[in-house]
Amino acid sequence: MDRVALHGFPGEEQPAQLLAQALGVTANLVRTHRFPDGEIVPRVAGAARTVLVYRSLADPNEKLVELLLACDAWRRAGAERLVLVAPYLCYMRQDAVFAPGEPVSQKVVAELLGRSFDRIVTVDAHLHRTRRLDDLAPDTQWTNLAAAPAIAAHLSRMDMPDDLLILGPDCESAPWVQALAGAVHREAATFAKTRLSDRHVTLALAETTAIKGRPVLLVDDICSSGGTLAAAAAWLAEGGASHIDVVVTHALFSHETQSQLVKVGVRHIHSCDSCIHPTNRISLAPVLAQALSQEITR
Ligand code: R5P
Repeated sequence: MDRVALHGFPGEEQPAQLLAQALGVTANLVRTHRFPDGEIVPRVAGAARTVLVYRSLADPNEKLVELLLACDAWRRAGAERLVLVAPYLCYMRQDAVFAPGEPVSQKVVAELLGRSFDRIVTVDAHLHRTRRLDDLAPDTQWTNLAAAPAIAAHLSRMDMPDDLLILGPDCESAPWVQALAGAVHREAATFAKTRLSDRHVTLALAETTAIKGRPVLLVDDICSSGGTLAAAAAWLAEGGASHIDVVVTHALFSHETQSQLVKVGVRHIHSCDSCIHPTNRISLAPVLAQALSQEITR
C-alpha cells in the first residue's frame, strides 16, 4: 500500500491535480453511483496509509454525505490517517444563534467532519466570533491557512499602481486586508458594514481615506450574494475611484451577480481556486502544498 495518496472528486480535478503535482503524489478520483431513489454510493480507488482527500465544500448539502460515506470506504480499505483538504469550509458563517430557533451550524459541521478526519486543512475559514477552529472540535488537528501569500504573488505579477488602495468591506476583513497590503506595500483601509438582509448592506468609510481618482482593489474572503461587494463598488464609483477591481478567496457567486458587479463599476474580478468559478485566476496549490509537506515526510 502507498504511504500517501491524494483522492479527489469529479468537478475538482484541476485543483486536486495541481496539489498532487506540487506534493509529488498520485491523484485518484472517487466515482459515485446514484441509485434510482437518489441515494448514493461513493467508490474509492483503494487507499494509502495516509489519504489526502481534496474536497472543497461550496454547495455542501450533498457533498457532505458523499464525503462521510467515502471516509468509511477509505478506512475499510486500510487508511490509517485521513486528511481533508477543504479550501472552502462550509457553514462557517452561522457561528451563533442569530434568531430564536436556529442552530449553530458552524459547530455542528466542524464536529461532524472532525469525527471522520484526523486533520482538516482549509483556507481563510470565516471565523468571526470563534477565534480558532480547534475550539469547535478539539480532537481534530485543524490548519487554517491564509490566501494572502497566493493573492500577493498573483498581484505582484500584475500592474499595481503605487497609489492602489486595498480596501476590505468590513472591519472583520482587516486582518487579511492588512496582510495583503503589507505584502505588496500598498495602503489598506476597511469600510464599516451594517448588514440589513441576506443581500443588502450599508457601508461607511472614514473621511480621511482618499478615493477620488484613485485605483482601488476590493478584497473579501467570500462573495456570495454579491451584495457586499456591489455596495462597496457603487460607493467607490460614486466617490470617483479611477478603477475598481475585486479579489476574493471564495467565489460562491452566480453569473448574474458577476454581471451586476460589472454593471456597478467593477473592472476585473479574480478569485482563488477554492471554489470552481469562471473568475478563478489564483491557484492555492503552493499554499496548501507547503502546509501538507509534513504529511509526505511523516
Ligand atoms: C462577511 O462577513 C464576509 O466577509 C463577506 O463579506 C460576506 O460573506 C459576503 O456575502 P455577500 O456576498 O452575500 O454580501
